[in-house]
Amino acid sequence: MSLYYSKITGWGHYAPERILTNDDLAQMVDTSDEWIRTRTGIRERHIAAEGQATVDQAYHASVQALERAGISAADLDLIILATSTPDYLCPPASSMLEDRLGASKAGAMTLIAGCTGFVYGLATAAQFVQTGMYEHVLVVGAETLSYAVDWEDRNTCILFGDGAGAVIVSRSHTPGGLQSMILGSEGSGWDALIAPGIGSHAPMTVETLERKEHKLRMNGRQVFKFATRVMTEAVTEVLSDAELTIHDVDVLIPHQANARIIDLAVRRLGIDKDKVIINLDRYGNTSAASVPLALAEALDSGRVQPGDTVVMVAFGAGLTYAATVWQWQPETADEEPILVTNWPVPETMRVQAQRVRTAAWRLQVQARTKASDAAMSLMLPLYTFRKGVKKRLKK
Ligand code: COA
Repeated sequence: MSLYYSKITGWGHYAPERILTNDDLAQMVDTSDEWIRTRTGIRERHIAAEGQATVDQAYHASVQALERAGISAADLDLIILATSTPDYLCPPASSMLEDRLGASKAGAMTLIAGCTGFVYGLATAAQFVQTGMYEHVLVVGAETLSYAVDWEDRNTCILFGDGAGAVIVSRSHTPGGLQSMILGSEGSGWDALIAPGIGSHAPMTVETLERKEHKLRMNGRQVFKFATRVMTEAVTEVLSDAELTIHDVDVLIPHQANARIIDLAVRRLGIDKDKVIINLDRYGNTSAASVPLALAEALDSGRVQPGDTVVMVAFGAGLTYAATVWQWQPETADEEPILVTNWPVPETMRVQAQRVRTAAWRLQVQARTKASDAAMSLMLPLYTFRKGVKKRLKK
């Protein structure tokens, strides 16, 4: 049981200066701006400068988050750095960040859960502060994917970008903060998104380097199917756990992988698109940095307001997924202690009514998902047949 509440008191984001547009990519591989925009929604992405690595980016975002929270690095109890592209395999990038920030009393850990890493980190941080163990935890998602992709593979290089986002999760006496969370993994899909030639299973050799096995490879269709399914399922579950429906949500922050994945989930969940934060057109998929980058931009532009119900959902390599529901607190918190067990104190009738609403909404989502799955399985043979005819005509 929680003794305290968790609260996001600071946030920051960073993206390298250099921008790579779709037209730039079309000069490098056989692709076009039109293909990338229609299949993914991405227009451009940021690319780290020569010698700029993940900790450099994480540092900039973290400094902003600390300033916004009005605390110094010395106040941090723990640093959680989510990344799949650490500066080195050893040492952990989180300790390098702790050193750069001067967070001398903080513990530091690097969390690898693919693009889901930041949401995993956020949920972890909230546990530490809600039990009263820690007061301030820095959670960062930062990636330098430009070094991990094969710039000759059009299936992957068009998707990814570099960047970082950070938040401070602080202990609070004021009700609000994390309402519910879901962490998931479907490890049977571990090889759908993989850099096969790095690590203890396949140590690097000249041959693996020549075959570019240290670069990312992806089964795009498998990941697409997984993503559209788990995004809907995870949001439904996490809201049901908080006894809420999609109609209670003010802001949805999804992992910024592909606009088509987000569109499908939006339709299935029945959420108003205006409530969904999308910035992937300017950043591409920045993996663990994508959710905190989108969150920080949403906060800076005022799209998240005190009292709002905010849902964050992510999916990625592993295959992993996670979702959290937050109730955004006013910036000036009333620090008068209110026992968690006394809040909220809802009347039985209201709770029952809310449960019925939640159950009814879940049935609606299931029905919409079944309908769109059925439509897709009808359209797919037609699409494949048309593609076959086009190919034969070309020959
Ligand atoms: N430019 C032009 N054509 C491309 C291309 C590119 N960048 N990449 C692939 N193609 C081609 C393919 O070779 C294929 O050609 P073919 O029909 O002659 O074989 C055709 O386009 C269709 O490929 P397909 O894989 O069916 O495309 P798609 O509609 O599934 O879109 C992705 C591909 C990668 C955009 C899509 O599968 C996707 O977004 N998957 C999820 C990826 C993701 O989000 N990963 C990160 C998860 S954290």
